[in-house]
Amino acid sequence: MEIDPDRLAARERYRLLIGCIVPRPIALVSTISPEGRTNLAPFSFFNGVGSDPLTVLFCPANKPDGSEKDTLRNAKPVSEGGTGQFVVNASVESYAREIAASAEELSYGESEFELTGLATAPSLRIRPPRLARAPWAFECETLQVLRTNPGHALGGNIVLGRVVHIHIDDALVDSRLVVDPAKLAAVGRLGGISYALTRQRYDMPPGRDALTRPPPDWPTP
Ligand SMILES: Cc1cc2nc3c(=O)[nH]c(=O)nc-3n(C[C@H](O)[C@H](O)[C@H](O)COP(=O)(O)O)c2cc1C
Repeated sequence: MEIDPDRLAARERYRLLIGCIVPRPIALVSTISPEGRTNLAPFSFFNGVGSDPLTVLFCPANKPDGSEKDTLRNAKPVSEGGTGQFVVNASVESYAREIAASAEELSYGESEFELTGLATAPSLRIRPPRLARAPWAFECETLQVLRTNPGHALGGNIVLGRVVHIHIDDALVDSRLVVDPAKLAAVGRLGGISYALTRQRYDMPPGRDALTRPPPDWPTP
């Protein structure tokens, strides 16, 4: 099948986007409104950008009425009416239900921390709290918001942030700061309402050395 994306409905494009680009890491983003109300929501259009400086991005799309999601309202720069700050909290198995529940569309100012019962812990460098249970959390200052279709339904927004502080559970890392993926037990998002676990893995060296290896002996626990 060959598809011209411009001939699809936006919803169909969305279904293909989230079904093809898998698995996706999930940023559980905590923010605070300028009035001081906390907010928590998951975003799987999320990734690291670079390590010098340490930068991340996530993408809160516009709502069906073209308005901005609460997280974007809060995280956008002060010059645009937000606080210019957000925390990316880890998404892991032990609170998988709460991650999905925090996608509930509450009215602006109502907190998904209260809905899910997840506790906050204070951040060190910024105002939005982090998720107390998160095995890692990155405190971020918003560098820029890039809008691909401002004011339109499902238009994309890229929030670029600089990580100004890192919280990480000592038990997750060795002395070189290599993270143990089995201990982290991260979850990722697939299409529809499906998720992926990260407990099954295989190791492969990068570059031509990979071709000398036997085919992956999956799954490696
Ligand atoms: C696992 C998961 C990942 C999601 N990823 C995104 C995403 O990348 N972008 C987006 O706009 N919405 C995403 N959503 C939907 C938002 O979380 C949802 O619209 C949420 O209500 C937004 O909250 P807010 O208005 O408090 O910011 C995702 C939902 C789930 C359950």
